[in-house]
Amino acid sequence: MNVLILFSSRDGQTHAIASYIAKQLSATATCEIQDLSQVGQIDLNQYQQVMIGASVRYGHFSPVLSKFVSKHVEQLNQMPSAFFAVNLTARKPEKRSPQTNAYVRKFLLSTPWQPTLCTVFAGALRYPRYRWIDRVMIQLIMRMTGGETDTSKEVEYTDWQQVSSFTQDFSALQYEK
Ligand SMILES: Cc1cc2nc3c(=O)[nH]c(=O)nc-3n(C[C@H](O)[C@H](O)[C@H](O)COP(=O)(O)O)c2cc1C
Repeated sequence: MNVLILFSSRDGQTHAIASYIAKQLSATATCEIQDLSQVGQIDLNQYQQVMIGASVRYGHFSPVLSKFVSKHVEQLNQMPSAFFAVNLTARKPEKRSPQTNAYVRKFLLSTPWQPTLCTVFAGALRYPRYRWIDRVMIQLIMRMTGGETDTSKEVEYTDWQQVSSFTQDFSALQYEK
């Protein structure tokens, strides 16, 4: 059983989540993890399941996500596949589902890909690591949305229990086809 996990990450949280999932899946499958921005030619026929994770920055997923999906949509739709999004809006539990998270809702409406499973994880807020302009912008957004505004702080909102439970659901897909 070969599983491919692809991630698109700017500051590392989506990469960390993808690695955590890969480690869990490695107990029962051969799991390969790759950065979506580095993937060249790839034959998805080598894999029985594919998962893609991507983070949101200034309202958008990286263009590498839709580029990859457009190129591989036929195969993706023929195999068990999963998508997870990572963003800070999802720090609020009521914005943590594909139906209630605006970025995911919009993505699912615009893509021909129909992932078998889809979820949203809360990301991380790491002010000290941001460029000055990003720090100011994120602080402004946090002020407007009632979030953390202390720029000396790093806060991880990811619910690792939710990540584990999504991984289990993904694992179970192999028995459903
Ligand atoms: C410059 C910047 C812009 C961001 N824009 C958004 C946004 O528009 N909406 C949102 O919910 N989260 C936004 N975030 C939060 C990120 O999605 C969150 O920090 C996530 O953990 C980043 O994942 P990554 O480390 O894999 O890149 C932004 C973060 C940064 C640093």
